[in-house]
Amino acid sequence: MYVPVSFSEIYLFVQQFKKGDRVASLFRTGAFAEYACYPAITTFRIPDSMTFEEASTLPLGITTAAMGVFRRLPYSLDTHLTEKKSIVVWGASGSVGNYAVQLAKLIGLRVIAVAGKGAPIAKIAGADIVVDYRQGQAHAQILEALGDEKLQYAFDGVSEDGTTKQLASLIERDVKDARIVLVLYPSEELPSHIQYLQTTVFSCYGEEQKFGTRILPAVPEDRAFAERFFPKLEEWLEEENKIMPNKITVVPGGLEGVKEGFRRMRDKEVSGEKLVFRIADTPGLSNN
Ligand SMILES: NC(=O)c1ccc[n+]([C@@H]2O[C@H](COP(=O)([O-])OP(=O)(O)OC[C@H]3O[C@@H](n4cnc5c(N)ncnc54)[C@H](OP(=O)(O)O)[C@@H]3O)[C@@H](O)[C@H]2O)c1
Repeated sequence: MYVPVSFSEIYLFVQQFKKGDRVASLFRTGAFAEYACYPAITTFRIPDSMTFEEASTLPLGITTAAMGVFRRLPYSLDTHLTEKKSIVVWGASGSVGNYAVQLAKLIGLRVIAVAGKGAPIAKIAGADIVVDYRQGQAHAQILEALGDEKLQYAFDGVSEDGTTKQLASLIERDVKDARIVLVLYPSEELPSHIQYLQTTVFSCYGEEQKFGTRILPAVPEDRAFAERFFPKLEEWLEEENKIMPNKITVVPGGLEGVKEGFRRMRDKEVSGEKLVFRIADTPGLSNN
């Protein structure tokens, strides 16, 4: 169920959706509920073939990836590259990284993906080459995959434990307009010949955001992008295999399973998949 929140939202909503549409949306608050109020701008129809559980992996992960690929790198939804151009995506088996691989492939980039246990997921997402970060050879293997090409852009879907520094070491000093997209704020000193650009998922609303102690200014262009992105996402989802949702594992017990989910994540048992909790499975809810 969706409850529009303003007259302009009501207008947008009535134009976009009809009763019975199966939709997903990006949450700001209130996601642990069966009924919630979501902005129309980030709400999109999902295909009949996709389960709600699969669709639940899309909004946060793919919007974060899209803000990075299309708003922090110089690409647009209309980009179709014809020349060879590579990007390195670190963390390609994680949710954000995996969607970044898929979006990069859609615009014609050659993707060198870095993943560990979840490497097969990066390959399924379309990565041209997958490098395993656990063997200590990632740097040399990426350079080999680049051949004569100088790396200009990278997407760091992990952005901690030294991943950004490792990516920075792949970009030569004389490369102009070198950029690394980050999913977290950098916590280490990094070489200054590269721009480090933070993707922030909620900037798609075009409003000022609080990020911990930081205040991020409103970026109207990010909202303008979101207005085009979500209808495009609907198209991609309709066209089979253009965008695949993350692999999911439903944890039993609804909200009661959340503790078990955290345990699995803490013990590094979760790889190349998203844990999903069905609210309706929570014991003691009136309708189960
Ligand atoms: N900026 C924003 O607006 C925003 C929005 C959403 C999420 N985030 C942040 O983005 C990060 C990723 O989120 P997510 O949902 O994509 O995470 P996730 O799905 O839980 O990703 C976990 C995967 O990361 C991989 N990984 C961990 N350490 C790695 C390393 N050193 N090198 C390569 N891969 C590594 C692991 O791959 P293997 O199993 O293959 O080893 C693991 O499966 C989180 O920190 C999250 O808080 C930011």
